[in-house]
Amino acid sequence: MTERTVFAPARVNLIGEHTDYSGGLVLPVAIDLGTTVSWQPLDEHIRMRSVAFTDWVELGADGSGTSAGWGRYAAAVARLLHERGRRAAGLDAVVSSTVPIGSGLSSSAALTVSLALALCQAAAFELEPLELAHLVQEAERLAVGVPCGLMDPAAVLLARRGHALLLDCGTEEYRHVPLPAGLAIVVVDSGVRHALENSGYADRRTEVERGDPRRVRHVVSENERVRKTVAAFESGDLGALGTLFREGHNSLRDDFEVSTPELDLLVDLAYELGAVAARMTGGGFGGAIVALAERSGERALADAVVEAYRARTGRAGKAYVCSSVDGAAAQTR
Ligand code: GLA
Repeated sequence: MTERTVFAPARVNLIGEHTDYSGGLVLPVAIDLGTTVSWQPLDEHIRMRSVAFTDWVELGADGSGTSAGWGRYAAAVARLLHERGRRAAGLDAVVSSTVPIGSGLSSSAALTVSLALALCQAAAFELEPLELAHLVQEAERLAVGVPCGLMDPAAVLLARRGHALLLDCGTEEYRHVPLPAGLAIVVVDSGVRHALENSGYADRRTEVERGDPRRVRHVVSENERVRKTVAAFESGDLGALGTLFREGHNSLRDDFEVSTPELDLLVDLAYELGAVAARMTGGGFGGAIVALAERSGERALADAVVEAYRARTGRAGKAYVCSSVDGAAAQTR
């Protein structure tokens, strides 16, 4: 039986943090870390094995049955696809991933999107990328109760190589903004795990909905920073990028209170060591920072930040020099 493979990339959000669930602007990039699902057809049911975790996931071909751990994502995706009309085609799959878990690089969206695409392929079933993004967003909520926004699945599906995805989460209009050619993307993981399940993530969402002034001030100012970042990309104004990312980080730290001392330190170190721009990225409460570095200096910056961080905290951070890639929708067509 021939094996088929789907790949869903992780994403790093350049700016526009905690704005998606209130209909704001986000600017993520899909990167060359991701989750691969290799699968073959199977008549009766869905069987999946993860390379990282030892447990098997066994479900009915319609997603029925219970599951624990990462299998909760598989069950939620399969059930929602079944509700949308996917016929009950089984598959036997192996899941492997290069996305560090809990780093704020959307390891869960890379997982759910890759599972969804494999399940769609197995049943010759298709949804438009934005419809699929909504389904995957709902799966996250069903699986682990995190009321996340649309950014992660949209980025994983719709991003384009060499570009950032400017998405208006209110109108769902989007366009691809060319990344400045002279800049490289560096991600530095603080080594402090973030898990949105049981974190303050849901609280922040409620606080924004209730109109907490500081939380809303973050969202309003962050949307403006996204607009200005796009303008700075288009005009090549690197100085403006440095200021915008710095202000964005401070707003997440002070007004939104989702940063950590480790992320604050990493951002300071990145600027001190020559980054053009740096800020925490993703949901926060741990995870990683993103820095923009002048090309050819990116590896040196990454190493220097990790070394200085280790010297100051004793912690082993990990840096990734990332390339931007196409989203999964373009890769599977
Ligand atoms: C997580 C969520 C996203 C978004 C970010 C914060 O990654 O999954 O929907 O809210 O946090 O910008």
